[in-house]
Amino acid sequence: MKTLAQGVLVCAALCLSFPDAIILAEQKAGEDAARLVPLPDKTPQPPDNPTTAAKVALGKNLFFDRRLSGNNRMSCASCHVPSKGFADGQAFSIGVKGHKLTRNTPTILNLGFQKELFWDGRAKSLEEQALMPIESPDEMNQPIEKLVLELKSIGEYRESFSRSFDDGINAVNVAKALAAYERSLVSKTSAFDKYLNGDKNALSASAMRGLELFEGEAGCVRCHNGPLLSDGKFYRLGVGRGDVGRAAITGKREDAYRFRTPSLREVSRTAPYMHDGSKKTLYQVVEYYYRGVPIRGPEGLELDIGALSDRSFTEIDDLVAFLRTLTNVD
Ligand code: HEC
Ligand code: HEC
Repeated sequence: MKTLAQGVLVCAALCLSFPDAIILAEQKAGEDAARLVPLPDKTPQPPDNPTTAAKVALGKNLFFDRRLSGNNRMSCASCHVPSKGFADGQAFSIGVKGHKLTRNTPTILNLGFQKELFWDGRAKSLEEQALMPIESPDEMNQPIEKLVLELKSIGEYRESFSRSFDDGINAVNVAKALAAYERSLVSKTSAFDKYLNGDKNALSASAMRGLELFEGEAGCVRCHNGPLLSDGKFYRLGVGRGDVGRAAITGKREDAYRFRTPSLREVSRTAPYMHDGSKKTLYQVVEYYYRGVPIRGPEGLELDIGALSDRSFTEIDDLVAFLRTLTNVD
């Protein structure tokens, strides 16, 4: 354990060199900020798109329907595969025209609790996000107006849209239905949730040591916190080279190579990892934090994280054991 004096020294050094360290220190002072908590019982719902069973069922049909793509060969579930934790096990998914995409496909589980979507946060809601892959030429390559006409020609959709929406089939309602379905995808019966809810035997001894490191000296909880184990903020970890990440959205140089902290729920099911899919296993991810990330990233920009290289590598197995407890057991 570090003494208080050492802690103050570390903070003095860190807080001066990393502006984010100051933010993190403030977060710690605030209530609940840097803690791990269970998922809330209810997914927040936007007032103009309340979740109903009929809407979720409609959204589910759309999500699995290949007619949503330009050549009717690809659905959302082609890349967000339920049996693969709603990701697809590839470093990069292949779009409808056979091209590789440039970022790793994330899970869509539990996104109802995430504020900004995509690795760079360019969508502010599930409703805003939903039409983007449909229209993207590299993904599903289907102009929305054409899709709306196609759906209007299908009797089953005419009925199910009119059950959920006064104004029937249109682009906004396609997005609303998909978003309602995604909001219904919540995982909350992991071993870790059992532990949080009072079952002190739910975690193995190794996972318990991992949790202690995660919240303590390994410092993971600074960014991976809250019910999703994500603070929803953007950091530069030095992974990858070509993709400028958040800076493409904000236009700020200081955001270059920053990506959103991913949720760690279901993480054992969604290999490979990182925005570029470059880490094949959870061990490789944690090893990256331990082995020492370079001090400076692309273009000499300072990274938002330091290496844990002064610590014992045996800790990696414990952290991985903890990460494996974040998967639904249903
Ligand atoms: C060809 C593969 C592919 C298809 C098809 C696809 N996605 Fe995705 N999806 C991705 C990739 C890759 C990303 C990450 C892109 C990024 O962050 O820039 C993503 C990101 C997302 C996100 C944001 C996840 C997060 O963590 O913020 C949501 C939500 C989503 N997709 C929903 C959908 C829906 C709904 C459909 C169908 C309408 C769909 N996707 C179709 C590959 C795909
Ligand atoms: C400074 C904030 C920060 C800290 C501290 C941090 N992470 Fe991360 N973590 C991130 C970001 C940002 C990414 C995505 C980086 C990328 O793709 O470029 C990430 C990615 C990951 C991933 C991959 C998830 C996926 O779906 O691809 C895992 C696993 C992970 N972190 C675990 C940990 C563990 C364990 C620790 C502690 C040893 C830790 N993180 C410390 C911000 C942080």
